[in-house]
Amino acid sequence: MAENAMSQVDVALGERSYPILIEQGLLDRAEEHLRPYARERRLIVVSDENVWGLLGKRLSNGLQGIDAVPLVLPAGEATKSWAQLERLIDRLLAEGVERKDTIIAFGGGVIGDITGLAAALTKRGCSYVQIPTTLLAQVDSSVGGKTAINAASGKNLVGAFHQPSAVLIDPSTLDTLPERDLKAGYAETVKYGLIGDPAFFAWCEAKGAALLAGDTEARLHAIETCIRTKAKIVAEDEYEKAGRRALLNFGHTFGHALEAETGFSDVLLHGEAVALGMVLAFRFSVEQGLCAAQSSERVAANLGSVGLPTTLAEARIKASGAQLAAHMAHDKKRSGSRLPFILTRGIGQAFVDESVELEEVAAFLNRQLSA
Ligand SMILES: NC(=O)c1ccc[n+]([C@@H]2O[C@H](COP(=O)([O-])OP(=O)(O)OC[C@H]3O[C@@H](n4cnc5c(N)ncnc54)[C@H](O)[C@@H]3O)[C@@H](O)[C@H]2O)c1
Repeated sequence: MAENAMSQVDVALGERSYPILIEQGLLDRAEEHLRPYARERRLIVVSDENVWGLLGKRLSNGLQGIDAVPLVLPAGEATKSWAQLERLIDRLLAEGVERKDTIIAFGGGVIGDITGLAAALTKRGCSYVQIPTTLLAQVDSSVGGKTAINAASGKNLVGAFHQPSAVLIDPSTLDTLPERDLKAGYAETVKYGLIGDPAFFAWCEAKGAALLAGDTEARLHAIETCIRTKAKIVAEDEYEKAGRRALLNFGHTFGHALEAETGFSDVLLHGEAVALGMVLAFRFSVEQGLCAAQSSERVAANLGSVGLPTTLAEARIKASGAQLAAHMAHDKKRSGSRLPFILTRGIGQAFVDESVELEEVAAFLNRQLSA
């Protein structure tokens, strides 16, 4: 895709269909895209303190006279909480939000997830538009309508499926993103190659460094490739019933347990946990005789080359296999002692295995701890 071209991907969901627009510099032309969602030339924009501080002015300028009313939340995963959700909904109500209104979610996956849930709940459901500003949100979380906060017993356990009305992606917003968050987003990018697109994984091996260094064409290519795949999967399996959408959770069952162990904090970012989780899913698949060790090594080499954790030691995880498996027992998808796991037969060949016993996973993790 040429640097200045706009590209549009549609999520085909009948009356819940919506467009995803990807365009360098889109934020500076925000008025063009957001005008239909404003009421009395006013838009409520939910953001976090970092994003609003760095990019709020750019969005306001781009809105050319439409008044952006910012509701600014603290930055970070801890914001996905009951307390912040309650506060946000109270503030939306205080601003006079009506059911016909559209709320703008302007930030990373945290802001997208909590704003989407607040939109689903406020006045029994109003609309929202995602303007994702992290790589993770631009390649993945802004699309698909999964919204959530975390509960004491685990990640994303309180949520709703609520599709946005549009997703507006401006890769230039990544210019201000800290390197560590960029790399965390790289893990979710690579995931799309690993689940079903070996050519895209090879592209990541060749161009991942350029993507992280800020190359516009590489960013546009990665975002569009991932979003096209996500849009297709979501259209086929909106509510994750057929198993197809579950592939997007590759690395996440391990990852969520690691995040729970580190208290959903910046000790281990979501994308970092997913990177290590994907490597663990590969290693587990190798142990099960499903996948060649060489593929697993290739994945670890690529993620490790950008500084993402690929061993429990690197992620400073000291918990036993049983302790980590106990976190998995809270997973939404568990049934009895078994958990559907996304395993793999090789790069681009992920599949759902319904028969994995948590005890087996705990023993595997103990071997990884001493590796
Ligand atoms: N809904 C889904 O389908 C889905 C999918 C994957 C992940 N997620 C969720 O996404 C969350 C992680 O998202 P994330 O990695 O975007 O985290 P995040 O929203 O916490 O953003 C990471 C950090 O970057 C800052 N930031 C954001 N954009 C910036 C910019 N352009 N410039 C400078 N700083 C910026 C934020 O303030 C924050 O400190 C997790 O809670 C995860 O569960 C949801």
